[in-house]
Amino acid sequence: LPPLRLGIAGLGTVGRGVVRIVQTHGALIAARAGRRVEIVAVSARSQKDRGIDLSAYAFEADPVALAQRPDIDVFVEVMGGHEGAAKAATEAAIASGKDVVTANKALLAHHGQALALAAEAKGRVIRFEAAVAGGIPVIKALTEGLAGNAMKRVMGVMNGTCNYILTRMEATGQGYNVLFDECAKLGYLEADPNLDVGGIDAGHKLSLLSSIAFGTQVAFDAVELQGIQNILLDDIRMAKDLGYRIKLLGVTQMTGRGLEQRMTPCLVPADSPLGQLQGGTNMVVLEGDSVGQIVMRGPGAGEGPTASAVMGDVIDLARGTRVSTFGQPASTLTKAIPAKAQAP
Ligand code: NDP
Ligand code: HSE
Repeated sequence: LPPLRLGIAGLGTVGRGVVRIVQTHGALIAARAGRRVEIVAVSARSQKDRGIDLSAYAFEADPVALAQRPDIDVFVEVMGGHEGAAKAATEAAIASGKDVVTANKALLAHHGQALALAAEAKGRVIRFEAAVAGGIPVIKALTEGLAGNAMKRVMGVMNGTCNYILTRMEATGQGYNVLFDECAKLGYLEADPNLDVGGIDAGHKLSLLSSIAFGTQVAFDAVELQGIQNILLDDIRMAKDLGYRIKLLGVTQMTGRGLEQRMTPCLVPADSPLGQLQGGTNMVVLEGDSVGQIVMRGPGAGEGPTASAVMGDVIDLARGTRVSTFGQPASTLTKAIPAKAQAP
């Protein structure tokens, strides 16, 4: 088979990680995919030194031009943002007949259904394992290993920044601002960190998991959201005294009243797996009717873990996989009926 040719839009934390994996694991990838994977062209806002050798790749200042290049097969979108360049370039890639791999949960939470439909109409697929829980292959678990289950509930901690801040507040007694700066150094933060601490980023991820788990259209607007900005050291201390920890916990389940999606700070028992979760680690709990409960735990953010998930999708495409990340054609996803809040 000829090599699978990538165009990578974005050379930040995740984009650099993807370049590093392609450069260091060429033989391993070729053996597993049955063909080589090569980078043809890259895009970023500037051509500054990024500590990686990009000299063999064409540079496109405009990601839309990159997406339309006839010499790429897969457009890898790791720029971020749900409007503007990321959306325009992803649409251009699909229109020009490319498959897409993206880590951009904001884009998917807002436009995932439309993008997947456009890809289907062109016989292409859009894959986004990296968009949910970073390095944990939770989407693969849902769409492949658990495909024979009716899912009952999915829940978990899905934002590394929030979990880092909450656990370090308890462990160190340090305030929110110091820990927030540490998250920036670790490469966890979104370009707009309010997405992290406001619970919005985790809400994006939960809306994608709901869609995949229950076969419903992405309904981010129906997620009940609350961030961690108002959690005080005193709250954390009192929870601890009572045997609990505060986690930004996401829960999605299909109830008799409709689809319930909540991403809110919750008290969890300190000695439970969720209560024990430290730092930027994520945990997703999957409950299916046949399998019972599965717990997946791992790094939810950062260069290596996120690039690992991107490359899993790239290698699947190199192998010829044609299944969209939603696990079923986007045209077959049913409308989500949000559960109305119960009267007080
Ligand atoms: P960064 O901010 O580190 O990098 C973004 C990159 O995109 C930069 O190289 C930037 O160029 C480039 N870029 C932004 N806008 C444009 C534009 N208009 N034209 C061309 N290039 C552009 O982001 P991350 O790598 O952290 O995140 C990328 C995506 O991955 C986001 O969607 C994020 O939500 C997602 N993600 C990130 C994770 C993480 O741990 N960081 C984990 C999971 C998902 P330049 O460098 O020149 O400014
Ligand atoms: N900002 C996100 C987090 C990155 O902190 O979890 C991973 O999606």
